[in-house]
Amino acid sequence: MLGSDFQARLAAQSRLVDDFLTEALARFGNDDVAQAMRYAVHGGKGLRGFLLLEASALYAVPQERALYAAGAVEAIHAYSLIHDDLPCMDDDDLRRGQPTVHKQWNEAIAVLAGDALQSFAFELMTAKTIGPADIRIALVASLAEAAGARGMVLGQAQDIAAETADTALTLAQITELQSNKTGALLEWPAHAAAILAGQDPAPLRTYARAIGLAFQIADDILDVEGDSGKAGKALRKDADAGKATFVTLLGLDGAKSEAARLVAEAETALAPFGDKAETLRDLARFIIARDR
Ligand code: IPE
Ligand code: IPE
Ligand code: MG
Ligand code: MG
Ligand code: MG
Repeated sequence: MLGSDFQARLAAQSRLVDDFLTEALARFGNDDVAQAMRYAVHGGKGLRGFLLLEASALYAVPQERALYAAGAVEAIHAYSLIHDDLPCMDDDDLRRGQPTVHKQWNEAIAVLAGDALQSFAFELMTAKTIGPADIRIALVASLAEAAGARGMVLGQAQDIAAETADTALTLAQITELQSNKTGALLEWPAHAAAILAGQDPAPLRTYARAIGLAFQIADDILDVEGDSGKAGKALRKDADAGKATFVTLLGLDGAKSEAARLVAEAETALAPFGDKAETLRDLARFIIARDR
């Protein structure tokens, strides 16, 4: 279904973001926090940065402008994972096939490296190369909203609260939790591309929402039936931890059909963009077909 062209493009674009981050992080020196920041930003699939570059390409935004926002969203994502893995959150020892940051260093360094990656992300978006000040401010404001107490952080809080809730969450509540926890940071790249291009973000919004939700459903399915060697993280933890997921509510088959329905919805939403959006269609399919 997904050609080697897509895989090659994902690898090449992710490499660009990786190289950009390597260079941008070099100036922080070599103390433990700086080393942990570098350790944490590399080694992922790079999907959020990829989406940012591809959505920007759709609007013909020059890549040198888009790279700052792509680096920023990967930095925020890396911070969210460092904190997600902490003993007070999901308590995980393995991430991307390597020890989590608090295992490699310690909890204090992990908290601080996450904090510093967040500051770094916002600092990246002040670069003049990105464009006029109003564009940079709009990027900062929208990323703050996506990452913060009405976005990813809220979703993480809802996820943790659900573990000890007296009653199971409803489908509407799980949808809201997931769209905050994971959706917000996956939707932001599409929004950011529109901001960079000075275009209305609405046409890509339905696509971005649908893949954001499909992504977390796929993550929850992987937790149940994935191979932890391939995923590079411990699996089969959600049920024991009492996580509220689409799988717990709908079962595996129900969750799979919901993910497939969302991908079809995402593909349909790209119709106005025609053939130019083929890579984004491939990305939607990849999101539920992946094994890591
Ligand atoms: C994992 O995200 C965490 C979730 C939001 C479910 P990814 O699967 O994108 O993680 P990496 O960046 O590829 O490691
Ligand atoms: C993590 O979700 C979401 C964020 C980091 C915001 P999960 O806890 O399901 O991610 P994994 O399974 O540890 O990668
Ligand atoms: Mg978690
Ligand atoms: Mg986790
Ligand atoms: Mg998970």
